[in-house]
Amino acid sequence: MIKVGIIGCGGIARQHVTGYTDNGVEITAVTDYSPEAAAGLAKETGGAKIYEDYRRLIDKAGVQAVSICTPPVAHEEAAIYALEHGVHVLCEKPMAYDISSAHRIRAAAKASSALFMPAFRHRFLPAVLAFKRLVSSGRIGDVVLFNNIFCGPAFQMEGRWFTQKKIAGGGSLLDTNSHSVDLFRFIVGEITEQKAVMHRHFRTTDVEDAGILSVKAESGAIGTMQSSFVAGSGMALIDIIGNKGRAVYDYTDPERLRWRLTQDTAWNEGPVKLSGGFSEEIAHFLGAVRGEHPLSCTVEDGVRCMEVICNVYDNGGEI
Ligand SMILES: NC(=O)c1ccc[n+]([C@@H]2O[C@H](COP(=O)([O-])OP(=O)(O)OC[C@H]3O[C@@H](n4cnc5c(N)ncnc54)[C@H](O)[C@@H]3O)[C@@H](O)[C@H]2O)c1
Repeated sequence: MIKVGIIGCGGIARQHVTGYTDNGVEITAVTDYSPEAAAGLAKETGGAKIYEDYRRLIDKAGVQAVSICTPPVAHEEAAIYALEHGVHVLCEKPMAYDISSAHRIRAAAKASSALFMPAFRHRFLPAVLAFKRLVSSGRIGDVVLFNNIFCGPAFQMEGRWFTQKKIAGGGSLLDTNSHSVDLFRFIVGEITEQKAVMHRHFRTTDVEDAGILSVKAESGAIGTMQSSFVAGSGMALIDIIGNKGRAVYDYTDPERLRWRLTQDTAWNEGPVKLSGGFSEEIAHFLGAVRGEHPLSCTVEDGVRCMEVICNVYDNGGEI
């Protein structure tokens, strides 16, 4: 039985616990800066041991794998320490705080016998897999436009670490559109150009809290990805227009995928299984840890996502 530890015991850690539990794997160790947060999650796991910090957890708990669920600024130190000690890593997105940190994690992953997987859960959603199959089948033709929105409603973000550059590394683009960049690369293809417009509505923070990232693929397909921490009403959508039709997945209507070809007089739809993607993501990670298959979501996927977003931050992304 694989033993797993959780580093960082906040909101997303709970989804990881559920994902491991769904796959029959127990969390045996947890750690967090905050003793209360660690105690809370340990209680929810039904008996995980609490360790003082990630070093003690990796040194003493005998875990084969860890989920890193801290804010981005703390990903690198735990990831590199785990990889240097042969412990497999599932690391929340964005994989790092900045591009040099991402490159240092990649170097550690390449030097290690252990695996590093960035936690891009959307590519494991049954709906996204169905979407990818539809696009790959050629039914909607060559992809012309990819449109994606992931935003709010997100409240009280002004007081949270998500809007502090020194902890998050960036704003809504890095936090939220990291999923979008991965989806574009997963469904459409590699990104060769990127640009962004961004804005900061909050006056007390130092990152963008709304933005639109535009990208172009090797194929010529063009994508836009929107995100915001200040949107009063939520929206989550993938909409792809090809030269023979269009396909849409609306996360607020999550159990169907819709598509319409040029000759169709109405939308077609197919059922998709409702899921947050965490169980499927963790099933894939555990399968790779057991040696059943290679990782389909690799450190390179995490690094490319960082390269695209950090490039727009470095090239005149005024907020
Ligand atoms: N995959 C998704 O859909 C998704 C959704 C939300 C958040 N996330 C990502 O998950 C990560 C965590 O986000 P969250 O929403 O759970 O944040 P959170 O603030 O709810 O939890 C983070 C926890 O990490 C702890 N922590 C911070 N630094 C630490 C350190 N050095 N060592 C140990 N513990 C430390 C904090 O005390 C806190 O309990 C971020 O990278 C975020 O972008 C992913």
